[in-house]
Amino acid sequence: MRLHRCILLVSAVCLWNLAATAQAPAPTTLKDAFRGGFVIGAAINIAQITGRDARGDAILISQFNSISPENVMKWEVIHPRPDVYDFTMADKYVELGLKNHMFIVGHNLCWHAQTPDWVFKDEKGNPISREALIERLHDHIKTVVGHYKGKIDSWDVVNEALNEDGTLRQSPWLKIIGDDFLIKAFQFAHEADPNVQLNYNDYNLETPAKRKGAIALVKKLQAAGVPIAVVGNQAHLQIDGPSIADEEATVTELAASGVKVAITELDIDVLPSAWGKTADVSLNIQANPALNPYPKGLPDDVQQRLAKRYADLFAVYWKHRDVVNRVTLWGVTDSESWLNNWPVRGRTSYPLLFDRDGKPKPAFEAVLKTAAN
Ligand code: XIL
Repeated sequence: MRLHRCILLVSAVCLWNLAATAQAPAPTTLKDAFRGGFVIGAAINIAQITGRDARGDAILISQFNSISPENVMKWEVIHPRPDVYDFTMADKYVELGLKNHMFIVGHNLCWHAQTPDWVFKDEKGNPISREALIERLHDHIKTVVGHYKGKIDSWDVVNEALNEDGTLRQSPWLKIIGDDFLIKAFQFAHEADPNVQLNYNDYNLETPAKRKGAIALVKKLQAAGVPIAVVGNQAHLQIDGPSIADEEATVTELAASGVKVAITELDIDVLPSAWGKTADVSLNIQANPALNPYPKGLPDDVQQRLAKRYADLFAVYWKHRDVVNRVTLWGVTDSESWLNNWPVRGRTSYPLLFDRDGKPKPAFEAVLKTAAN
């Protein structure tokens, strides 16, 4: 009799649970789906910042809870001449994030690209001294980070300092200052806003040698006592690589060095890339029709492969949500993606979760389903 009652009670509880699960509506937005795990961001550019792209803004505000500035905070935009800081567009970018209660990313403070030549020269056009370049870096970081103190949540302090083999890139920063430019950049950022999260950001960290270099770099910064909180893995990926196992190893191995991991520039290229896996912005390949196979739309089989690839990646990020603190897509819809013009101009690219008309793609549904499972 007792056993009977017990079974009855257990069945009732099970049924009630089942009913509750069935009733709870599955999240329909990315930000709700991954809440409690990580924030989900998109990179935005002038069209979204100014409201010219109303459709993009509507998607951004309903689906995402973090933003990254695709270009408006880069040195060439925010500090175009020695005595000129231009915060016009960057201020509007930050206002948009504040108004919508978003996690606001700053990108970036020290990079070899999109940085004007004058930065590395003196008034006479000769190479600048180590001391003068350190002073210039200090002035830039103090001014920019100081301007957004308490408003920006996370800064990419140094971008892409590593070669593919894990050694330091021979950038003007390294050549003129030496390898302590990294420590200095982080120190200057920390002084300007002691509470902001500081990141090192790079691509191809799925490559074991480069990842090792990133981990060595983190250890060097930690040993110097500078507060590096996050390594950003850009994750400009291809449809067929790197493998999901490599993506997972990247997350876990970086995290084991005592930092959080952010996926900072996620997109998946479905177009041919004969030049190998890179996100080097200086690459410029001559256009030809063979490199642009889907000008009129993505074939369904590729669409489905893209959906599966996105789902597999998000399953890894979600599994490691204790160490992954953000996943940012490099754009809102396919129509604005940088991959329409890099490294070949004028291609029709399909790397994101929303199509050229702003409609959610099968990849979007697949990503939502990943979270629900
Ligand atoms: C890209 C932008 O998307 C383009 O609009 C711009 O022309 C070049 O830079 N790694 C980075 C980003 O850290 O800043 C780059 O963004 C893409 C590669």
